[in-house]
Amino acid sequence: MSVQGSSEVAKDRSLLVSLAGGLVLAVVLFGFVPLEAELWVKSLHILAVISWMAGMLYLPRLFVYHTEAGVGSAQAETFKVMERRLMRGIINPAMIVTWVAGLWLAYEVYAFRGGWLHAKLLFVVLLSGVHGYLSASRKRFERDEITKTSRHWRIVNEVPALLMVAIVILVVVKPF
Ligand code: HEM
Repeated sequence: MSVQGSSEVAKDRSLLVSLAGGLVLAVVLFGFVPLEAELWVKSLHILAVISWMAGMLYLPRLFVYHTEAGVGSAQAETFKVMERRLMRGIINPAMIVTWVAGLWLAYEVYAFRGGWLHAKLLFVVLLSGVHGYLSASRKRFERDEITKTSRHWRIVNEVPALLMVAIVILVVVKPF
């Protein structure tokens, strides 16, 4: 099997494992965990949020260096490995755990009520869209399709940070 082929199989497996893990977590949380465990689920949510955001802030920074390294360099090959491991090992699973634990809190504790929660959900959907964009971009980098400038990635780097500020203020201050 070619290197590209084995990488595709590994990709399928890692996504499947993350999705299956998310499904198991959802069944356990929604099926067996009582409301009294709220603070435990919130702790899990915050831990997953930290991991997701760490990856979402680091990946575009890697894209800046990857773009500047240029196609075919030894550094570019190293960045490909770093980006792949970051995406599959941290960013994808952390996003799934953030969503599952966050939806449990939103449903069990707040019954999906509250302007702050609806606004937060909107921003989290946007953040998930940025996640999708970074994931697709990572695959393009892996195929040596470098079409954007390093300045583009520097600007993209700020988007998750801005969304994170809005999300945290909404959930902590609950202004409406
Ligand atoms: C993925 C969808 C998400 C849902 C459905 C969700 C929902 C919730 C809910 C209902 C709470 C409990 C709020 C409270 O009891 O005061 C919470 C807590 C929290 N969420 Fe999320 N959240 C999500 C994603 C995020 C993201 C992306 C971030 C940060 C970037 C975040 C940051 C936090 C923080 C910091 C808390 C703790 C707030 C506190 O206890 O004062 N959440 N989330």
